[in-house]
Amino acid sequence: MAFDNLILERDGAVASVIVNRPKVLNALNAATLDELRRAALELKHDDGVRAVILTGAGEKSFIAGADINELAVQTPTSGREHALRGQHVFDLIENLGKPVIAAINGYALGGGCELAMACTLRLAADTAKIGQPEINLGILPGYAGTQRLSRLVGKGKAMELILSGAQIGAAEAERIGLVNRVVPAASLMAEARKLAGELANNAPIAMRYIIAAINKGLEMPFAEACVFEATLFGLVASTDDMREGTRAFLEKRKPEFRGK
Ligand code: COA
Repeated sequence: MAFDNLILERDGAVASVIVNRPKVLNALNAATLDELRRAALELKHDDGVRAVILTGAGEKSFIAGADINELAVQTPTSGREHALRGQHVFDLIENLGKPVIAAINGYALGGGCELAMACTLRLAADTAKIGQPEINLGILPGYAGTQRLSRLVGKGKAMELILSGAQIGAAEAERIGLVNRVVPAASLMAEARKLAGELANNAPIAMRYIIAAINKGLEMPFAEACVFEATLFGLVASTDDMREGTRAFLEKRKPEFRGK
């Protein structure tokens, strides 16, 4: 599939999606958002892909937010549609059914922070700057940032970050749980590939159900979420991977999961 604003690469079972508009710090315009939607659908349905890395082109920026040229001319109806479209794409990424690692290589602002939060895991370069600066434009996060940030770091910190528009450094982002791990900028991509490679060896169906159990379960009352978890636990018992994983342990060897 051809893209104008993304680079999609595959290395074995690991795919990398690179948002490629470095001249505008990889700002997300409508065309890029639509390409992200198409790429996400392609990767979701490709059983050969078991883990995905998402990053931005260039040294400076992961994604510096939605494209402000488009925001400047939006109307009430187009603004609402724009937010819903972005939310839909980020929802697809959150529920891709395989781990998506955000490799935050610089600015992750506004829609960039929201996209990183929709990813399954976040690795940040020690040079990264992260925040929701929409308030400085007289607007608010519209790609579910108010919701995902509160869930990730708690209501108080989310209020503080979104109301102030502050940019925080990678170490602070790790301290509050906004990113999983900080690594030296020079080794970010190597660390992301290492992590993606490790995850790609795990049982794909179990990973899909873990992502569903956590994402969907968090939206449910606790008791219902536990029943949902138990159902998924039962379902994995039907897989060859469960038999392979348990047998490999008993035979003292490494399992080879096939996603069946
Ligand atoms: N939308 C559109 N263009 C953007 C952009 C965005 N979100 N973020 C950066 N750009 C463009 C700039 O306009 C500039 O274009 P130009 O070279 O044609 O002037 C180019 O990217 C480089 O950005 P610049 O501001 O010159 O870089 P900087 O290093 O001085 O500052 C930032 C970097 C990230 C602090 C600054 O670009 C910024 O604040 N961007 C907007 C962040 C934001 O508010 N995001 C949320 C949007 S809802």
